[in-house]
Amino acid sequence: MFNKRIKIKELLQCEATGQKVIVMGWVRTFRNNQFIALNDGSTNHNIQIVVELGLLDDATLKRITTGAALKVVGKVIPSLGKGQKIEIKATTIEVLGDCDAEKYPLQPKKHSLEFLREIAHLRFRTNTFGAVFRVRHALAFAIHQFFNNKGFLYIHTPIITASDAEGAGETFRVTTLPLDGTAKRKDDGSIDFNEDFFGKSTNLTVSGQLEGELAATAFADIYTFGPTFRAENSNTARHLAEFWMIEPEMAFYDIEDNMNLAEEFIQYIIRYVIEHNREDIELLDARLAEEEKQKPQNERQEFGLLEKLQFVVENNFERITYTEAINILLNSPAYKKKKFKYDVQWGIDMQSEHERYLVEKHFKKPVIVRNYPAAIKAFYMRMNEGCEEGKETVAAMDILAPGIGEIVGGSQREERYDVLLNRMEKFNIPVEEMNWYLDTRRFGSVPHAGFGLGFERIVQFVTGMTNIRDVIPFARTPKNCEF
Ligand code: 4AD
Ligand code: MG
Repeated sequence: MFNKRIKIKELLQCEATGQKVIVMGWVRTFRNNQFIALNDGSTNHNIQIVVELGLLDDATLKRITTGAALKVVGKVIPSLGKGQKIEIKATTIEVLGDCDAEKYPLQPKKHSLEFLREIAHLRFRTNTFGAVFRVRHALAFAIHQFFNNKGFLYIHTPIITASDAEGAGETFRVTTLPLDGTAKRKDDGSIDFNEDFFGKSTNLTVSGQLEGELAATAFADIYTFGPTFRAENSNTARHLAEFWMIEPEMAFYDIEDNMNLAEEFIQYIIRYVIEHNREDIELLDARLAEEEKQKPQNERQEFGLLEKLQFVVENNFERITYTEAINILLNSPAYKKKKFKYDVQWGIDMQSEHERYLVEKHFKKPVIVRNYPAAIKAFYMRMNEGCEEGKETVAAMDILAPGIGEIVGGSQREERYDVLLNRMEKFNIPVEEMNWYLDTRRFGSVPHAGFGLGFERIVQFVTGMTNIRDVIPFARTPKNCEF
């Protein structure tokens, strides 16, 4: 058997009693031909390997370079060095994979995040990205744990669909038709999708919600957690063309229940990471503090990362209506001094500058905004009763987070068949193709609600990474699909 290694994370918790261990990993540094710092990705800490004089010949010593992969057999002894309790006195060292130090792009020095994005295939091996992706994993695990504990069913909704759930027309087409102009056309000149693989026009999903609603009308509480795709041409620090979304959908829930669940959910997964990934968060906290120092004083965040996360799990989110949000903006010094680029009035789709004002300047905490104008939200959201003409609102809710803006979008769903049909027609949704969706309202319709949490946005929030490209292993953004 080749692999009887102990992971460095586990090893570092052991007492040094001279016990024999095998460790494998990649060299971070090699000092004085004597001290190897070895890392295996299980923790941001390295184990120090001590190479006694005469153990290795010169040729082997030369092969121990930053990035080389090693198998080390040795004894665990107390360390005299600073910052570590134990170290390994090597008895044998085998170079599993050489690494040409001249050509290796990751030098033992600070690299910019922009540079590391270009070598995303290697950045996993850095301290920052080690921490980011361990936290990303922990969040994913905590998400499943949260819903499993509450008896929610994990539903796999399709990735290829024929519908545009959000109706925003930002889908990636899926086709096997030739692109050289020879695809068969109909009499009116349009492409004949009868000839396509599925016999109709299909695309990558933008959301699993509509299929999630079907499952919720049988299991009551379900969630999805999968990739979603949007061809929106937004080159920002918060948008990806391929991102992961968690979408719980609950029968017998109204908007209030929905907001309560979303808040409890976010606090639960953050608390999980604070408890289980303390060292990673501390490393990311220090990284962020360093980044903040580069900014002018008035642009720096008030809280450190850990402080911010602790604040979020200990305090309720602020809850306001859309109308209240607009009034806060209209009365703000920023508005009066014409600091906003985009206009503010009832009916607008709030821009990121408005959302950030509310959470970062006004409330200084996460905010749930509910009851948005019906005209700017999706067709499936439930119409609120008793609205003034022209000021119709829907039972929608968005959660806005400091530093990020929108992290959650959700709503109570329109369960009344006639009202829904009316809304679909107004939004030009092809009703004939959506009969399967309407069936939930025809047969045993119930009040229900749900929301979508952008996974990368919550990973950004928890890790303090400023750019969304730095919290997904291989980012897909306009004009960029490397690796
Ligand atoms: O607000 P959105 O568009 O809502 C939906 O898709 C609903 N079907 C969700 C539901 O009710 N089940 O997207 C939900 C969340 C946003 O709040 C945001 O966090 C994230 O998904 N998101 C993106 N994340 C990264 N890149 C993008 N291009 C994103 N678009 C949305
Ligand atoms: Mg939204």
